[in-house]
Amino acid sequence: MLEDLKALTKTALDKLHAAGRADLDAIQAAYLGKKGKLQEVLRSIGSLPARERGPVGQAANLAKRAIEAALVDRRAALIEEAESALGDTEWVDATLPVAALGMTQGDRRGGTIHPITNLVREVEDVFLSMGFETLDGPWVEDDQHNFGALNIPADHPARDLHDTYWLNDGNLLRTHTSPVQVRAMETNEPPIRAVCLGRVFRHEELDATHENTFHQVEGFYVDREVSVAHMLYVLRTLLSEILQDDVQVRLRPSYFPFVEPGFEMDVTFRGEWLELLGCGIVHPAVLEAGGIDSSRWSGFAFGLGLDRLVMLRHGVEDVRHFMSGDLRFLQQFAGGVEG
Ligand code: PHE
Repeated sequence: MLEDLKALTKTALDKLHAAGRADLDAIQAAYLGKKGKLQEVLRSIGSLPARERGPVGQAANLAKRAIEAALVDRRAALIEEAESALGDTEWVDATLPVAALGMTQGDRRGGTIHPITNLVREVEDVFLSMGFETLDGPWVEDDQHNFGALNIPADHPARDLHDTYWLNDGNLLRTHTSPVQVRAMETNEPPIRAVCLGRVFRHEELDATHENTFHQVEGFYVDREVSVAHMLYVLRTLLSEILQDDVQVRLRPSYFPFVEPGFEMDVTFRGEWLELLGCGIVHPAVLEAGGIDSSRWSGFAFGLGLDRLVMLRHGVEDVRHFMSGDLRFLQQFAGGVEG
């Protein structure tokens, strides 16, 4: 019996070794299935003399495990083989003329750069020219980075202002780009000049001016004796560049737990005052939470929504167009096509 098992295992392993993807299921059924050869052996154990049962049972189990492992390995190896061969078969010559690819005139539209991406690039350029670096942060954040380290502890009423998408594991989709401030402090020594442009998520009732996914730019500046005057200069430069006008700005006192004093900034655009962004002097508790000595360093921070600016710029009347993926909407920005 033990000899039979050995022979059976060897044949199975040999077969697997030579098997193609299409053979694997059949081999699995033949050896490991309910009516497979191993099951046959196990069924016959009852009729063996008592002292043989143990060793044969053990050997059958070992054989089963060996065949299972070989199956897994073979499957993985075949998949890898197939994937590495993809490059030889699945390719197109992107330099061929469109007609040679069998496209019709209608397919020939070029792609367009999303209007929000366009603004993101412009804003990045302005900041790079002022010596800021750009940072990225994760969309899935933990409570500590999105709230705690920003001076918004668990029972703080400011949490109610952020309609948060909580995940089952206790994490959340970031409700603003401010957690990137915390990440910047954790990984950098001051002076820090950084911006982060990216998506944020809030559980909003959707309408023409509310999306559950929108875009912010966070700016963060930590150095010696940073004042509101520095912040005003940077923000006015930014807004003049992107609104292409020598804009006026004004500050109104406002409350965000992570800045003190905190403000909202308004800007003149086509003869009107627009409410545009939140900003302020970074709260010492936030610096300390990020590991920065607040008696030696100070900073300013601001957060600006990008979607609204793009709406103003292009006369878009419904914010929901941006994430709709509707080509009829996107094609209107074909002026900005690159490549
Ligand atoms: N994070 C704030 C918001 O999303 C904006 C903000 C950023 C305010 C930085 C002040 C300083 O509303």
